Amino acid sequence: MKKIGVLTSGGDAPGMNAAIRSVVRKCIYHDIEVYGIYYGYQGLIDGNIEKMEIGSVGDIIQRGGTMLYTARCEDFKTPEGRQKGIDQLEKHGIEGLVVIGGDGSFMGAKKLTEAGYPCIGVPGTIDNDIPMTDFTIGFDTALNTVIDAIDKIRDTATSHERTYVIEVMGRDAGDIALWTGLADGAESILIPEVDDNFEDIIERLKRGHERGKRHSIIIVAEGVGSGFDYGQRIQDATSLETRVTVLGHTQRGGSPTAFDRVLASRLGAQAVDLLIKGKAGRMVGIQNNQLVDHDIIEALNNKHQLDLDMYKLSKELSI
Ligand code: F6P
Repeated sequence: MKKIGVLTSGGDAPGMNAAIRSVVRKCIYHDIEVYGIYYGYQGLIDGNIEKMEIGSVGDIIQRGGTMLYTARCEDFKTPEGRQKGIDQLEKHGIEGLVVIGGDGSFMGAKKLTEAGYPCIGVPGTIDNDIPMTDFTIGFDTALNTVIDAIDKIRDTATSHERTYVIEVMGRDAGDIALWTGLADGAESILIPEVDDNFEDIIERLKRGHERGKRHSIIIVAEGVGSGFDYGQRIQDATSLETRVTVLGHTQRGGSPTAFDRVLASRLGAQAVDLLIKGKAGRMVGIQNNQLVDHDIIEALNNKHQLDLDMYKLSKELSI
């Protein structure tokens, strides 16, 4: 393998830059030419490709976002779109590709591998919703961003004796809601994986209020529904003064935590190692703190499992 490409695709995540840096430096370390593909699969189709050097990835390990930029590309889902991408790979002599992104991005990597271009998927998404890895790049940073916001909200919530509904990201997965809810002692956590019991939420709020609690926090994963709708329903049912905060895309930005930088550095390098060994159509991940790789198809056929014991614990601790 003499030339490897790297791209980021789908929603960005803090730590993607550290992963790009790792791929680039690892390639150069092994005397492999490395090419950055800008704007994800769209850039591949358009031929937005540049050779990268050691200095191309200097001073990015601490930055959020992705220096290669990203896109959600509909064209690449069609055989015609993919053929255009393959033509570009051939034109540049790129023999293997590292794709950093979520499950949609992995699908593209699978299709390219089937077409004869070895790809390795590196899980990068704040949602932590990729199966067969305990953590995805960006999740830890997003958790810390949410915790920081909730801690601030707590201050004002206590002063005014209010109930707060906080909507966090997570279209299909409740990991951000669950982890931040547990980390911040939320009264209730609403996640797509568990049917919520509205009566129970109201019961808990009333109990807490009667016990003299000055504020309550309810975390809602966006996949469950609108935080504003829940806020209205809760205020109507309890008469407690309720406010809503939607944290939105603040969760996707910011300097990656040490955990995400280390994870990204390990996974990016591992992806290059696999390509060097002639492996293709794999995803890299971390399980029980060990680097692992799995067949991408197997990963796509599996569903990410949220830790329901943690959910149970959060209920037990917020009696
Ligand atoms: O997949 C990551 C994610 O941040 C989801 O949690 C969220 O629903 C989605 O991306 C938002 O996507 P966009 O930035 O395209 O609106």
